[in-house]
Amino acid sequence: MRRREARTKIRDSVLVDEVRQSTVDVALERKRRKLVAALGLPANFRFVNPIRRLRTPFAELVKRERIQAVRFKTGISVDYPDLVQMRHRAGKNVVVETRSDHQQSKRRMGQPGHDFALFGAARQHPAPQGKVAMGEGFLLQGGDCAESFSEPSANNVSANNIRDFLRVFLQMAVVLTYAAALPVVKVGRIAGQFAKPRTSPMEKKDGKELPSYRGDVINGVEFTDDARRPEPARQIEAYRHSAATLNLLRAFVHGGYANLANVREWTLGFVKDSPQSHHYEELADRISEALGFMQACGLDLESHPELKSTEFYTSHEALLLGYEQAMTREDSTRPGTFCCTSAHMLWIGDRTRQVDHAHVEFCRGIMNPLGLKCGPSSKVDEILRLIDILNPENEPGRLTLIVRLGSEKVGDQLPAMIRAVKREGKVVLWSCDPMHGNTITSETGYKTRPFDRILSEVKTFFAVHRAEGTHGGGVHLEMTGQNVAECTGGARMITDADFKDRYHTVCDPRLNAEQAIELAFLMADLLKAERATRAKPLPAVSGL
Ligand code: PEP
Ligand code: CO
Repeated sequence: MRRREARTKIRDSVLVDEVRQSTVDVALERKRRKLVAALGLPANFRFVNPIRRLRTPFAELVKRERIQAVRFKTGISVDYPDLVQMRHRAGKNVVVETRSDHQQSKRRMGQPGHDFALFGAARQHPAPQGKVAMGEGFLLQGGDCAESFSEPSANNVSANNIRDFLRVFLQMAVVLTYAAALPVVKVGRIAGQFAKPRTSPMEKKDGKELPSYRGDVINGVEFTDDARRPEPARQIEAYRHSAATLNLLRAFVHGGYANLANVREWTLGFVKDSPQSHHYEELADRISEALGFMQACGLDLESHPELKSTEFYTSHEALLLGYEQAMTREDSTRPGTFCCTSAHMLWIGDRTRQVDHAHVEFCRGIMNPLGLKCGPSSKVDEILRLIDILNPENEPGRLTLIVRLGSEKVGDQLPAMIRAVKREGKVVLWSCDPMHGNTITSETGYKTRPFDRILSEVKTFFAVHRAEGTHGGGVHLEMTGQNVAECTGGARMITDADFKDRYHTVCDPRLNAEQAIELAFLMADLLKAERATRAKPLPAVSGL
């Protein structure tokens, strides 16, 4: 490798090494060594942020840097061949300078919290998930496996896509709220779901081998050398897409679209003559009747904001730590606490949940509600350790365990997990991801998920919770508002033959709009059954 290339081929976790600049003085280096020792990091560990504040009390620095520390043992590292310089400064700008724009001015990602203004939601305390963890609600989390800058069906900057996703999501939420008589916390996998962990680092096609696609924030999905080369400026693009998506979501959610009076308008054209749509229309009738009844009793619906809009939160996997870190800022009202403003909720994936690795280290330092994927290789004692690390205060809603065991293993493995968590007195929100343990390759070579297996995992998940006396509190889905054919089965019996024209995901197969609503009705029945076994009297109604 030529020297110039060797110089620029830097790992992302090392890029941010500002301590090594020539101006560094002996005192700073001494402080670095002391900190490294105090934090138990490797002796050559370099901090993401320069340790400039020499006057900061040492104990405070330890606390802050523990939060900011990114270890080298990270499960994901990206070689950026075109990178000249990238500087992440927590709570400040991200500056990315690539070879291609070396002559031009540096590009900035902007001030997190300024464009995103998510700070309020992310630091909401207690988190809305708290009540769900205590059995008083349901968490609906869903969206694309991977958002895309360009694939139309996963490009959420398009207003129509966002609207369609939201329509289906709101329909699902209303179905669940009505049936379970529980508030539904709505969390999209949206406005930032751009980084993908991959099982295999390389992909082979027609005898050619290239690096795997790792999400639009890292490289491109097209199978070419160019596209698969990691490009740091994509982080800027991801940031802009996320901000624009969020902007549109806010406009829809708070601009009257989510008004319960519009419950009928959420049905998408292509869903209109499906069995679910009739089912949904019946429910919409009942809701409209109930609203009419309340109005007749003298209740002024207009004065109830909870009927006119809703709370909608965003989430994504906290995978590309440099990016996430750049979006993290200190809460000025609670010094020493940090909030990642890129989303309300962040989760740790099944491949990056090692106790002593960077992703856990980063996530334990931020105050956002967290998710932890628990797959078939999750050991019960590991889960307990992770709970201690990620939620040391045992705060309800801080941690959601997103169980993705697969329809065949969930019945065997979930009871032991629940019992251990219960035995230790830990409060977690139990959510079911029935997607990631049920992926198979179709006869025609497409990655797919049979709807039956998805249903079966959801049913078993709820049955186990019923048997254990715990609350199956949520679901985590890969879904879209588009009429795609990516998962087989469902009421319209999608088969391999449909994939040819309607398979659009850039990563994992998603439920289409009809399948998502079908699943919501099934879950509503299961929640209703759970409610019946734990029936609490409704508060007395007065004035009738
Ligand atoms: C995902 O949610 O898209 C994902 C990759 O999940 P997991 O980490 O559970 O495999
Ligand atoms: Co996925």
